[in-house]
Amino acid sequence: MPLVPFADLLADALKHHYTVAAFNVLNLETAQAVAEAAERSGSPLIMQVFHAHLAHSGADFMAAIAEIISRHTSVPISLSLDHGRSYEQAMMCIENGFSGVMIDLSSSDYEKNVEETKRVVSAAHSRGVSVEAELGKVIDASSSVEEIGRGMTDPEVAASFAAETGIDALAVSIGTAHGFYADKPQIDFPRLEKLLSIVDCPIVVHGGSDTPDDDVIRMVGMGISKLNVGTDLMMGYENGLRRILSSSPDFIDLQKVLEAGRDAEIEVCLHKFGLLNKFRI
Ligand code: 13P
Repeated sequence: MPLVPFADLLADALKHHYTVAAFNVLNLETAQAVAEAAERSGSPLIMQVFHAHLAHSGADFMAAIAEIISRHTSVPISLSLDHGRSYEQAMMCIENGFSGVMIDLSSSDYEKNVEETKRVVSAAHSRGVSVEAELGKVIDASSSVEEIGRGMTDPEVAASFAAETGIDALAVSIGTAHGFYADKPQIDFPRLEKLLSIVDCPIVVHGGSDTPDDDVIRMVGMGISKLNVGTDLMMGYENGLRRILSSSPDFIDLQKVLEAGRDAEIEVCLHKFGLLNKFRI
């Protein structure tokens, strides 16, 4: 089936008590890996391309890859821009066929974040494309727990932001971070509870990698709609490559090398889907 706007997937997740996997992809094999795992676990999927990877992957190539994969897959798939940096970048992805975009101006002041997010929402919605924005700061996981905790999202401000902008999903800062953690993450579950109860749109958690499974399951049970995972999947892919490349100093058929990365990543994805579907009905 054709790519779908992610708002449709998040609505289904809320109805059926699961969390949609938003998995980062940047080439054919990583896209095939996440889609194969989605198909095997019967789960809708958001493929997303990190803004800084667009220079490598090309928005047009990724849209073509996602579109074709989606037509060969029985579960619904959305393709979104991850951490889009500007209105122009979001529009470029939309024009190339993405069915969702994230506009992340969480580092700008509140007014600019509202203003630019509204511009993206207006343009995206008129084309049937979903929009995610971010409030609060989700930083690098190599930071200390204190540093990660400093940028947490204020639930009252988040409620106003969602109402003012009309976004389809809001990424929040509650103690997770991007990449591998220097210290065990400390998730502020009461803050998440409050966000879930007063923000009138689906809640997204970033930094799904290296977050303990128990914490992920707890957030899923509380009702987060979308979990972003990047590093764990890339690590899975790289581990697959490392294993096969270290098995022989001689030339190895490149197809076998790429398949080894893809197969290793599929296993990581299947594990994540298990967590995200824990309470699915
Ligand atoms: P991780 O790389 O920590 O999984 O974070 C990915 C992410 O949040 C993408 O937006």
